Amino acid sequence: MPRYLLTAALPYANGPIHIGHLAGCYLPADVYHRYLKAKGEDALLICGTDEHGVAITLQARKEGVTPQELVDRNFKVIHQAFEGLGIVFTHFSRTSREIHHREAQAFFLDLYNKGFLKEKTTSQFYDPVAGTFLADRYLVGTCPHCSFDGAYGDQCEKCGTSLSPDELQYPRSVLSGSVPEKRETNNWFLPMDEMLHLPEFATYTERIARWKSNVKGQFNSWVQQGLQPRSMTRDLDWGVKVPLEGAEGKVLYVWFDAPIGYLSATKEYMDLQGNPEGWRDYWESEDSRLVHFIGKDNIVFHTLIFPMMLAAHGQMVLPWQVPANEFMNLEGRKLSTSRGWAVWLHEYLQDIPGRQDELRYTLLCNLPETKDADFSWQDYQLRVNSELVAILGNFVNRVMVLTHKLSDGHCGDLPTVEANTSHVSLELELAGTRQEILLAMEQFRLREAMAGVIHLARLGNRYLAETEPWKLLKTDSEAASRVLRLAAELCAELCIALEPFLPFTASKLSHQLQWQASAQEREAWWNPGSADSKGTVDARTRYLAQGHRLGPAALLFVPIEDELIQAQIHKLSPMNDSKLENDPKPENKSKPENTPKPDAELKPEVTYDQFAALDLRIATILSAQPVPGADKVLEIKVDLGDEQRTVVSGIAQHFQPEELVGKQVLMLTNLAPRKIRGIVSQGMLLMAENQEGQLVLVGPNGNGILPGDRVS
Ligand code: MF3
Ligand code: ZN
Repeated sequence: MPRYLLTAALPYANGPIHIGHLAGCYLPADVYHRYLKAKGEDALLICGTDEHGVAITLQARKEGVTPQELVDRNFKVIHQAFEGLGIVFTHFSRTSREIHHREAQAFFLDLYNKGFLKEKTTSQFYDPVAGTFLADRYLVGTCPHCSFDGAYGDQCEKCGTSLSPDELQYPRSVLSGSVPEKRETNNWFLPMDEMLHLPEFATYTERIARWKSNVKGQFNSWVQQGLQPRSMTRDLDWGVKVPLEGAEGKVLYVWFDAPIGYLSATKEYMDLQGNPEGWRDYWESEDSRLVHFIGKDNIVFHTLIFPMMLAAHGQMVLPWQVPANEFMNLEGRKLSTSRGWAVWLHEYLQDIPGRQDELRYTLLCNLPETKDADFSWQDYQLRVNSELVAILGNFVNRVMVLTHKLSDGHCGDLPTVEANTSHVSLELELAGTRQEILLAMEQFRLREAMAGVIHLARLGNRYLAETEPWKLLKTDSEAASRVLRLAAELCAELCIALEPFLPFTASKLSHQLQWQASAQEREAWWNPGSADSKGTVDARTRYLAQGHRLGPAALLFVPIEDELIQAQIHKLSPMNDSKLENDPKPENKSKPENTPKPDAELKPEVTYDQFAALDLRIATILSAQPVPGADKVLEIKVDLGDEQRTVVSGIAQHFQPEELVGKQVLMLTNLAPRKIRGIVSQGMLLMAENQEGQLVLVGPNGNGILPGDRVS
């Protein structure tokens, strides 16, 4: 029998959890884990907070607290919020714990002793003012791909490209704003290019064929690009110390230590269980299936780097599945924590108490399993009111109320096959839907499985509409009793089917039915081919004993009012930030499209000299034309008074070429020329972005200003 080791990406303890995190991995991981347990499988779900790396130190600096204070606080907030939403881990740990430091160091030493970590001297950016090396996100500058000035040393968040610090144009230190210099330093590199050929790794790559295409695609593109040795240490003082002599002031790269957190957390859990060797069954056994639940930004680390580390270590299982999700947007925009464009789990639980499953449901219906998806408050309201209330809640309520009316809540006899064709067709359709749910779960298509469960209730409603027990009640009470008994059986079945997805509802329903599924009943339902799947009334498992008395009827869901939705939409506006409490509140807008766009974060300070280095002028647009094969950019000719230039500008989706001609516009003229779509672009046109995200020209357009005039 297989054993499952499920992991959910360790969340950075630099802030709380929002709906993007939930949809990306935590909710799917919880649902899948509950499903496996219901099925009777041996499964662990391991998680914890990721407490190292510059994500932590930068945030601590911003908040004026120590990294330790920051992670202590966020660990609690994160852990409690997960519990609040019914996300249940077998074990939830922290990478700051001693056991983790010990394990990560031992892992590093093991690889080092096997010759997998090679020391290399490289020159790295150093901040002479702050007196420290500048790892990854301590460096900002201009993105060479999209010219966004605010790209980090490891990634441009505007266009999503991974960068190395050397690619950044005009690099600056986040710490002091100063221009960094290069200094030599030693670090330890994982030779990823060579490791691709490790025998353990070669057999692993064969599995990837059956993975989701988004995961496969990223994996293949990394491999095809050609892998480079990657540094596994950093010059930083927060993290797991490098356990080598001469490595003072260096820590393990956070992406080296964090995934080892899955292992150290398993060991910690087994120690607590009094079974210190128990982790081996999950990490070293051939029967073990390691499944990483992650968001798409973590794919390379979980499909390449960590598996290579595991392969190099030897004896360890490599991932069996990596069902990574794409991103969840909010009201049509990318989530942005710095701009306050997010729905925070801990706030949701506080603002809308007792509605955990409403959020779980909306997220599950919109999981970004194959492409980016969107969460909107109106969709939330619609899903709750027209699906949870009108389909699921309504079905259960009708059964409860009618059974009480008919027989004071006592269940009658099950109908026989001959009784009514509606019974038979209901049974067949339920069995078919159940098979679809099971298949979807096996294939990690949780969204479809969720829809399947709601479909069970929809079939129940249809059955009631066909048989009309409220009429039978008066004319043929025996027939009414049989119909309601079968419907009550479906309620019991729903309890089982709902549990992995909407556990709060499942337990409310179980309470109403005054019935609880046994482990055998749950296992039989969730295992294909068990007796329950034959699809005929006779073979049907009886969940409720004859004469069983249902509890009092209560509503499973109540509709979501408009006011609640409006308050949440309103809350998204950054103007409501508590720091701006004295400012007038923006008008309450009900339509999400009208919600004011959050202000962009201010960029780090620059010196006067840095500013003076920019040559800004007024340009007049002479012509604009589309670039074949590129629907985002226009080729634009401008007049700068004494010369004409060509600029390739990514504004094609905001302007018709004709409307640009003759307009004056602000231009940065001394930006290094670069080739875009085969055309050399000699500068950049500056635009403003309005509340709707539309670009608008910025220029004098008249006032006696001529092309070529300076702006300063
Ligand atoms: N902290 C990372 C993030 O939030 C995820 C780390 S996953 C682990 O993106 F494998 F490294 F633990
Ligand atoms: Zn970019």
